Amino acid sequence: MIKTLTILLALFLLPTLVFAQDKFAVETKDNSLIFSKRDDGRVFYAYYGLKNNIPESLAMLREVYPCAGGDFVGEPALRVVHSDGNTSTLLLYQSHEIQKVDDNITEMRIHMKDAHYPFYVTLIFKAYYRENLIAASTELINRGEEPVTVYNYASQSLPVRANAYHMTQFHGRFFYEAEMVEEKLTPGIKILDSKLGVRAHQMRSPFFLLAPNQPVQENQGEVYGATFAWSGSFQFAFEVGGSEETWNDLGITMGVNPFAAQFALEPNTPFRTPEMLTVYSAEGTCKMSRDYHAWGRKYGMRDGDKPRSVLLNNWEATYFAFDHDKLVSLFQGAKDAGFELFLLDDGWFGNKHPRNDDTAGLGDWDYNRAKLPHGIAGLCREAERIGIPFGIWVEPEMVNPQSELFETHPDWIIHQPHRPLHLQRNQLILDLTNPEVKEFVYNVTADLLRKNPYISFIKWDTNRYITNGGSSYLPPEKQSELVWRYHKALYEILDRTAKEFPHVRMMLCSGGPGRIDYKALSYFHEFWPSDNTYPLRRIFMQWSFSHFFPSIAQAAHITTRGDTSIKFAFDVAMSCRLGMDVDLENTSEEDFEFIKSAIAEYKNIRDVVQLGVLYRLISPYDSPRCALMYVNDDKSRAILFVYQMEDDESGEKRVALKGLNPDAVYRIREINTASPVIAEREMTGAALMRGDKTFPLSQRATSMLVELTKQ
Ligand code: GLA
Repeated sequence: MIKTLTILLALFLLPTLVFAQDKFAVETKDNSLIFSKRDDGRVFYAYYGLKNNIPESLAMLREVYPCAGGDFVGEPALRVVHSDGNTSTLLLYQSHEIQKVDDNITEMRIHMKDAHYPFYVTLIFKAYYRENLIAASTELINRGEEPVTVYNYASQSLPVRANAYHMTQFHGRFFYEAEMVEEKLTPGIKILDSKLGVRAHQMRSPFFLLAPNQPVQENQGEVYGATFAWSGSFQFAFEVGGSEETWNDLGITMGVNPFAAQFALEPNTPFRTPEMLTVYSAEGTCKMSRDYHAWGRKYGMRDGDKPRSVLLNNWEATYFAFDHDKLVSLFQGAKDAGFELFLLDDGWFGNKHPRNDDTAGLGDWDYNRAKLPHGIAGLCREAERIGIPFGIWVEPEMVNPQSELFETHPDWIIHQPHRPLHLQRNQLILDLTNPEVKEFVYNVTADLLRKNPYISFIKWDTNRYITNGGSSYLPPEKQSELVWRYHKALYEILDRTAKEFPHVRMMLCSGGPGRIDYKALSYFHEFWPSDNTYPLRRIFMQWSFSHFFPSIAQAAHITTRGDTSIKFAFDVAMSCRLGMDVDLENTSEEDFEFIKSAIAEYKNIRDVVQLGVLYRLISPYDSPRCALMYVNDDKSRAILFVYQMEDDESGEKRVALKGLNPDAVYRIREINTASPVIAEREMTGAALMRGDKTFPLSQRATSMLVELTKQ
């Protein structure tokens, strides 16, 4: 009774559209998602778009959760084999409820049941009002006596109806991650997927853009963005035409990859899919990204409202070749240059099998006594004395065969019997489905942090994907649940870590972006986009990732890679979370002074860069130059980045800025340079946004970093 009253009250208070009983909707600030129930009880999507543009008569676009085996002949969201062998499911509406979770979040649940079997499906749509984001997931419950086998269990199956469909994927491989490729979909199915299990995003990011009618545009036109909050294998199936009635419609089925991933759903055990996060924008991708950023900072990552430290990492400075004294001298250099954190990377552990390269030691998490005679505790003492916070690298899910861990527990790895060991980067993956292994993996970090409370930062790495995917812990009939169970265990470990050590900041790394999704990120503060730190390449990656993730989440480190100037490298990295991987002892005095002043400048602008609103101005994919800017909330400050990637003398080199107050006067100051190209001056927001100002760069790998301050 109380629950019913609450629902009624919530319904009354909600900014929900009032419809006839067979229609129900959730809303965000700009958009509506509307469903329609047919007389026979089947439920359809009726609309997803601007709430001020809803057509008078709504079509039945696509069944809300298409099931295999019945009259739906396209790619199914759900495929179940019931305990008597029936391969079809017919879901009918039972009820729905809309509840206000807080002043920003509304949750709609559509309860459905199979027409015959006690098999229940609840579709859950969580609408984040201010951020225009809808998180869709599905809960399955088998209330029969026997288990049923579930083969496909998408998180969402979204329809789009247009004359043409332009899909952008973010495709990659190690070192060349997240390249944007747009294509026009043709009839049939296009599948973007990963079957890699762990480090599943190495070759394909779990997000895409879909622009109806026209190719995607930055500041105008419709676009649907979608990203999957799940770190394992995924599948996005884009099917143009799925039946005679809908020969030109698009259905997008999104969720866990059904490939070899079936499971037995035991009676009365709810199963909830991961969330698919979509944002619709009628004003192009940049607005969509701003909505994702606002959501990500608030809900999708840890401490998204707290500026990040500038860090020095020793990886590309020393690789595995360091000792106590070398590290202590780096601490001092870091402190002198203005860094706020020192991160010790790979190579600090292993004794019987010392971790002196990537062939040995992974799994043996005791500090290496030869390199670090005073241990991690000794390093912490020195860091504390010098006054630089200290962080450390771990890769707890992995093991080298050359390790004491593997010698003691050869059965702890993911592997198929009767097959040769298949190594990647000389390593294997530990089988987290085994509770003993899960506890071990948790304690790798927990022990380190308990023993060394001075550690305030962890870089958590994962450097291979699954091959020979078998578990010696799971019984034969549960082998297909390996990836699912692995990630459930991983999330438990990460959750425990975040709870036991709430003050410790965490970097998500997977040899680059092999694990970049909003579920993983919910336990972390940032991610490492790529081992490729060439500034000219990073411009593209940062641009790509900025579609879904805010700059505060992207770690951008300067290394000695590439032939570009230190200024160019800094200008590129300063548009995200700044860090460096250099040996400061072997840095020229001139460079050291530049580093010092650039870090000081970054500290001055980082609130705008890390917490401001992004405007992408010129795409590196369309031109030999790139420009983007961040504006703070009250539009009193903005930071502009302009990069020239190739020699190009042509054109006037104007950049039309965005997001400023047209009536305000801004002082323009070029930073990170002793010889500014543009003299300091003042201009109105209106003139700057008209593109009255030129930013004259013409040579490859030159850049400008400009601060605009309202007078
Ligand atoms: C991966 C990471 C690097 C570094 C090395 C250490 O490649 O992406 O940043 O931590 O591992 O082995």
